[in-house]
Formats: sequence, structure tokens, C-alpha cells
Amino acid sequence: MIHNPKARIVSQKMIFPGCCLLTISSPEISRTAKPGQFIQVRILPLLDSTLRRPFSIHRVDREKGELSLLYRVVGRGTALLSMEKEDNFLDVIGPLGNGFNIPEGKKKLAIAAGGIGIAPLFFLLQELALNDNKDYVIYTLLGARTGEELILADEIASLTESFSGGVRIATDDGTVGHRGPVTELLEEVLANRLVEMVYACGPHDFLRVSAAMLEKHGVAGQFSVEERMACGIGACYSCVCKTNRNKGEQPVYKRVCIDGPVFYANEVAF
Ligand SMILES: Cc1cc2nc3c(=O)[nH]c(=O)nc-3n(C[C@H](O)[C@H](O)[C@H](O)COP(=O)(O)OP(=O)(O)OC[C@H]3O[C@@H](n4cnc5c(N)ncnc54)[C@H](O)[C@@H]3O)c2cc1C
Ligand code: FES
Repeated sequence: MIHNPKARIVSQKMIFPGCCLLTISSPEISRTAKPGQFIQVRILPLLDSTLRRPFSIHRVDREKGELSLLYRVVGRGTALLSMEKEDNFLDVIGPLGNGFNIPEGKKKLAIAAGGIGIAPLFFLLQELALNDNKDYVIYTLLGARTGEELILADEIASLTESFSGGVRIATDDGTVGHRGPVTELLEEVLANRLVEMVYACGPHDFLRVSAAMLEKHGVAGQFSVEERMACGIGACYSCVCKTNRNKGEQPVYKRVCIDGPVFYANEVAF
């Protein structure tokens, strides 16, 4: 874990109103980070500025020593973060958490993102694309409320063009792609037995529905789970989630910040 109290902001761009892409210079973190890990950002003008805000590492440029965050403005901290300008400095800690596991041998994968859930999955796609072994079949499924809120769809299409499988889009209002939730696309992929592992991130209900589908079809999944966090390093237990869904057994509470944020889909009690 690296503490970088002066990570310079390289750029801050608006993807659409309320959704930003922030790139910072932090060579030590970007060189050691793996997909699924996150950083904690201190947002100084906040009253509780000792409490940092967690964000998935969305992409890295190891050569330049840069990493990016993709975030939605949902409250005071993210609103303040969105006002930060190029060449300002941020106090960050990372990389934190466990990250995704890419099992040997499994080559038929689905990446399912609900909205901003694409944030950590983009980094996973970036790593898979760097891998010399090009025999991956990867179905990338992107969900959004409306076409205007689709996140980086063109960039994702070019990032994934070396994989067979392709990118499919679902929007709630049908303005782009399939009309309906992205879980309907996932159901299609699972029912046709196209994949051996599903990586997913998105809202709680999206993960809950996806986990039930994976169980029904007997397919493994790794989900990036979010809980409200305080310390981010395992000390305060504010981020626990309930695991162990076996009937009759005691639930086990795990800390999302150090036992996760990535959990196997059959582990979490949604
Ligand atoms: C491991 C991890 C990775 C994350 N990665 C990203 C990311 O890549 N992009 C992104 O946009 N967001 C991400 N989040 C959520 C992000 O941390 C929160 O949106 C942010 O902390 C909100 O801060 P705020 O001060 O703006 O909002 P607050 O004023 O603190 O809260 C505003 C609203 O956001 C909700 N909220 C706050 N924290 C969380 C949280 N941890 N999870 C879910 N809802 C929350 C609150 O319930 C409330 O409704 C991640 C969270 C975790 C735990
Ligand atoms: S945030 Fe403190 S234990 Fe996870």
C-alpha cells in the first residue's frame, strides 16, 4: 500500500454531466495496481476530510505512471472532486483490496457492467488485451439508463476488438441497443452456454439478479462489490458484507476493503 500525498492531476474530463474521468500521476500505485483494486482519495474541503472516498482504478498507463478514476457525482465529496483542476494535487492511498483473479484455462468470459460499474472492468479489459494469449472469447455487456449515459462505448469497442465475442449494449429506454436491463443480455449469454466466468460490477440489484442467474446456470462469477467505507484498510469494520449463503450455516461478515472488493458471486449473500 502506497501513500502518495501529492498526486498531480493530469486531466479531468466530463464524460457526460455528472460523470467524470480523472487522471492522476502516481507512478508507484499505477505500476503495482491490478484490475479490481481501488484507491482512497482524501477530499480536503470536506468536513470529514480524514475520511477518504474509495474509487476503483479505472485504467493505468504504467509507462507514464498515471492512473485514472471514472466516477459519478453523487454527493458532496464527488462534487468537490469534480471541481479539481489540472495540476492540482490529491492525497491518495492505494492500491487497496484484492482485485480480480484471472484463472488459468478459462478463456470464455463475460464482462457485465451496469452503468458506472464499467470503472474497474475497463482496467480488466485493458489487462486482458495486453495479454499475449489472444484466444480469449469475451462478451462485453454494457448497461445504461439511456444512450446519453453510455460510458466510453467506442473506446471499449476498440479495446476489445482483438477478442471474439463483441460488445453488446442495453439501455433501459431502448435509445441504444437492446431495450431493457443488461441482465437480459447476460441471461442470453448464459443460456447459450457461451462463457465459463462472468466478471461484473454495478448497482446492488444488478449484482443480486446476476448472481441468481449464475447460480441457475452453474457458471462462476467474480463481482466487484461496494459498501460505504471509512478507513479502507481493514481497521474499522464499517464496510462489512454478509457472505456464506449455505443454508443452515452461520453467515460470515467480511470486510469489503481487504477481503474484497472482488468476491466470488456464490459467496455474497445479496
Ligand atoms: C471499492 C469501491 C470502489 C468504488 N469505485 C467507484 C468508482 O469507480 N466510481 C464511482 O463513481 N464510485 C465508486 N465507488 C462509490 C464512491 O466511493 C461513492 O460514490 C463516493 O464515496 C460518494 O462520495 P460523496 O461524498 O460524493 O457522497 P456521499 O455524500 O458520501 O453520499 C452520497 C450518496 O452516495 C452513496 N454512497 C456513498 N458511498 C458509497 C459507496 N461506497 N458505495 C455506494 N454508494 C455510496 C450514499 O449512500 C449516498 O446516497 C466505489 C466504492 C467502493 C467501496
Ligand atoms: S473501511 Fe474500515 S474496515 Fe473496511
